[in-house]
Amino acid sequence: MNEPLGYGIVILTDRKRNRHMLTLKPGGRFSSQYGYIEHDTLAQTPSGAIVKTIGKEQPYRVFGVTYRDYVMHIKRQAQIIYPKDTAAILMWGDVAPHQNILESGVGQGALSIAVLRALAGTGKLTSYEIRKDFADMSKKFIYSYLGYEPTNYNIELRDIYQGIDGVFDRVLLDLPEPWQVVPHLKNGLVNGGLMVSYIPTVLQVKSMVDCLRECGYFDEIETFEQILRPWKVDGLSVRPDTWIYNHSAFIVTARKTTICEED
Ligand SMILES: C[S@@+](CC[C@H](N)C(=O)[O-])C[C@H]1O[C@@H](n2cnc3c(N)ncnc32)[C@H](O)[C@@H]1O
Repeated sequence: MNEPLGYGIVILTDRKRNRHMLTLKPGGRFSSQYGYIEHDTLAQTPSGAIVKTIGKEQPYRVFGVTYRDYVMHIKRQAQIIYPKDTAAILMWGDVAPHQNILESGVGQGALSIAVLRALAGTGKLTSYEIRKDFADMSKKFIYSYLGYEPTNYNIELRDIYQGIDGVFDRVLLDLPEPWQVVPHLKNGLVNGGLMVSYIPTVLQVKSMVDCLRECGYFDEIETFEQILRPWKVDGLSVRPDTWIYNHSAFIVTARKTTICEED
């Protein structure tokens, strides 16, 4: 129960609730205005414990990193899908172990991590990314979180609008023009398979939904947005937070049907 954290990624929180994410390495050191803590000390500490800095004896709470901590703390070079939306994508997309999943684009790789976790070492995730710099960056981001290179993951440097190879159980899209992928899903998504598209603006949503309806091989087309409203609960002050992150993107889901002869 009180097992030490070991060398890995942790979150340190000070009294003012400032959060620091760090990767523990033998001989490493965390330093702040309040003094320093040796990584070796943190690695030997159980998750949830308090550790004091050497020098000023200031307390820090240390926890093992969560998925949300990790993707929200990283210095972003591409826009990520936020955890609240990732949760919906995994559930509405019915992502589960043993599936063969296609994802595009990859960006930072935040969704890729969530899908790999859901697959739990089974099935396969193939990701198409058009930019080499993002493909390289996302690999580092994904492997660093997992702590290993998963054998059920493959990232391909290519333009998904030009076509896809294979037949997938699920297709997850985070692209400027997802409707350009729809023609490739006629043969690239299994019958009954789900397509989930993460789309920032209403005009893009309209183009995507029109395309899904007109192609004739999708049904159960749904569009929604996920609104998260944090509350402040502090003594007698119990009310919605005054700050709210208002809009991230819409989520469009659709289910592949059998194809009529005349299609
Ligand atoms: C917003 S980012 C994806 C973020 C990612 N879902 C995450 O959670 O971190 C969009 C990505 O799509 C890639 N992209 C854009 N057009 C593409 C295309 N035609 N084929 C493949 N990737 C594409 C971009 O280079 C970018 O990396």
